[in-house]
Amino acid sequence: MGFWTARQERALDEREVDALWWAWRQACEGAGLCTRVDTVTGPTVTVPRLVDVVLGPPVVLTVQLLPGQLLGDLRRVALRIAPHLGAVALRVTALGQIHARIELLGADPLDGTVGLVLPAAPGRVALGVDETARDLVQSWADDVAHTIVQGVTRSGKSVFTYGLLAQLAADPLVTICGSDPTGLLWRPFAGTRHAAWQVSGVADPAAHETLLLALVADMAARIAAMPADRDTVEISAATPLRVVVLEELAALYRVADAASTTKDPIGKRIRALIGRLLAEGAKAGYRLVLIVQRAEAAIVGAFERAMCSLRISFRTDNRASVELLHPGAPAELADQHTVACPGVALLSAPGEELTRFRAPYLGGYPEYVATVKSACPAEETGPAAVAA
Ligand SMILES: Nc1ncnc2c1ncn2[C@@H]1O[C@H](COP(=O)(O)OP(=O)(O)OP(=O)(O)O)[C@@H](O)[C@H]1O
Ligand SMILES: [Mg+2]
Repeated sequence: MGFWTARQERALDEREVDALWWAWRQACEGAGLCTRVDTVTGPTVTVPRLVDVVLGPPVVLTVQLLPGQLLGDLRRVALRIAPHLGAVALRVTALGQIHARIELLGADPLDGTVGLVLPAAPGRVALGVDETARDLVQSWADDVAHTIVQGVTRSGKSVFTYGLLAQLAADPLVTICGSDPTGLLWRPFAGTRHAAWQVSGVADPAAHETLLLALVADMAARIAAMPADRDTVEISAATPLRVVVLEELAALYRVADAASTTKDPIGKRIRALIGRLLAEGAKAGYRLVLIVQRAEAAIVGAFERAMCSLRISFRTDNRASVELLHPGAPAELADQHTVACPGVALLSAPGEELTRFRAPYLGGYPEYVATVKSACPAEETGPAAVAA
């Protein structure tokens, strides 16, 4: 490279860094990521100091947060700042205590599908991959209480559930139970040890009630048998974790309410049974997974929501739906979520900031059926259904 070319390039780089420096300053000021002090000569605005720029690609900025700022403050306004730096999104990671590394992304980091790695590590469930390419893995028995999943139609709820069940199906310490009005979820489990605890379809609401009664009785027996020196049931082959999936919960309530009469209020009874499982189940080794299109109060009241420590929202119809499960979510993130691709979701979990992630994609329904069938082959004699 000639001397003059190198000099020219250096000058171009310097100009690019200057432009970024200026754009960063302006964008932070516009997004409110700054402190403003009024002085006699006018207001003085201070923004997080840009301490390093790598032109890459990828372009990476290192900034020093202002006193009193947290990484979360920067993440919250990332969507407001990104376009002014010529990026689609920012990947913000901590660098020590008060510095942040900001990678300028030319495309949404959650574009493209994420495969599901099977078999899953025992007791652990992969939920997906976040914007920093981190695997979101939860220890289902220890970290998670109950889960609620919401999302409009075709947003990825069922695919997420397929992934979850495919991971849990082989675990000898887990029984997969639940109620599925759509009739699809339990088909591959026919004849397996799980099938006794599963009810499908909408033809017979009483079958769903019988199942829930059996689950509540089992839960109560577990609590009654708990040793005096324990406050939770120890998960073992004899007392496995019972993962209770309530797919399309609104549909179950609709069917039960339609069958209800004043003398025989089956809808109310089903709601009460689910309420008991939510309230008392966690310590008895019960993990409920509620799946709804919208976590509105008529279906999932404040009490039910409060019992769900893991909350997942696939695409929602408006900002208010995001607020239902993720109170305090930044408005721009909630707005952006109304056009999220299938499989992209928001997650609130214990000890986690609100996280945008992509759920793993196992494949379509045929792959789900094949995976579950190979993970837990049907037993010779077939179990007697609880709800028969
Ligand atoms: N994690 C994902 N990765 C890639 N594509 C996905 C993912 N999740 C869903 N999809 C695509 O979106 C489609 C709809 O997903 P899914 O059936 O899970 O929606 P749903 O929320 O259950 O809808 P409904 O409420 O109608 O049952 C899938 O057939 C698949 O093509
Ligand atoms: Mg579905």
